[in-house]
Amino acid sequence: MKNFLHLPELDDTTLRDLLARARAIEKTPVSDALKGRVLGLVFLNPSLRTLSSFQAGMAQLGGSSFVITPGQGTWALEMQDGVVMDGATAEHVREAVPVLCQYADLLGVRCFAGGKDLALDLTEPVLGAFARHATKPLINMESAIDHPCQALADWKTLDDLEIPARGGRFTLSWAWHPKALPLAVPTAALSMAARRGMDVTVLRPEGYALPREVMALAHSEAARSGGSVRETSDRHEGLDGAHVLYAKSWQAPACYGDSEKEALLRAPLREWCVAEDWFRPAQKDAVFMHCLPVRRNVKVKDEVLDGPRSRVIRQAGNRLHAQKAVLLSLLGVR
Ligand code: CP
Repeated sequence: MKNFLHLPELDDTTLRDLLARARAIEKTPVSDALKGRVLGLVFLNPSLRTLSSFQAGMAQLGGSSFVITPGQGTWALEMQDGVVMDGATAEHVREAVPVLCQYADLLGVRCFAGGKDLALDLTEPVLGAFARHATKPLINMESAIDHPCQALADWKTLDDLEIPARGGRFTLSWAWHPKALPLAVPTAALSMAARRGMDVTVLRPEGYALPREVMALAHSEAARSGGSVRETSDRHEGLDGAHVLYAKSWQAPACYGDSEKEALLRAPLREWCVAEDWFRPAQKDAVFMHCLPVRRNVKVKDEVLDGPRSRVIRQAGNRLHAQKAVLLSLLGVR
């Protein structure tokens, strides 16, 4: 594995190896396997879990890390080629990335979607620029359309909980949020569950169907694994027999980049806040998952987050184990 950019790029053997490593690392978390190695972390957007789990993971493996926050503690970065840099950006990605790669053994980048032009965001312009100029292994710490670190940790969480892969029912549900949110986590969760071989349902209100490119990826992952993918806006149908309810908000593709139009579409949907009674048609012991951060009593009610179904803390814990497996693998350390 040269980079860790998108889970669907990985073959089954590599995926199985990463998950097995993550399980082993959880049992033996501290070693000097990465002594003297350095991880560079570039955050173009905020983070709690990703930043702290990568830094903690490097420290536990005997290595170290540094954090770059362009435009805050460090120079604002220009991503486009051929521009006259007489505005806010002071340093070009063409220099910044190769420079950082001289100091670090691997590089991680967080680069959310621009949120204005869906077709452009689907091409992952910033992640692509980093990948073109990186001379060391690159990790996607959440990009415009994917969050593979979250997906790998979520896969491990499903395994830990012994939720069946074949025959397991995974419902990805849209939830209300005051802002139009990106597509990275829903895309990652959907394609992960499909790749795991689960029967996946996307439950979303009318107008919130995921982009056809995202659904096509999920269908191709399901075809690879023997899983299935379907969509509905009917809550009872969407949660019938579900083992997992994975909640996430995303912006309506038809209003992409138009926050006022999107807000009008979203306004009557506040009842899309996950509550205990949502689970009535689901399996008796169905679990609730969310990548965090989550707005309490907006996306999900306290009764669910604080109740016995919630697995959100375990999900976040698995970020650490899964990412340590990725670091070791990228650096070729057995
Ligand atoms: N789930 C996740 O990536 O959390 P952060 O945004 O806090 O890193």
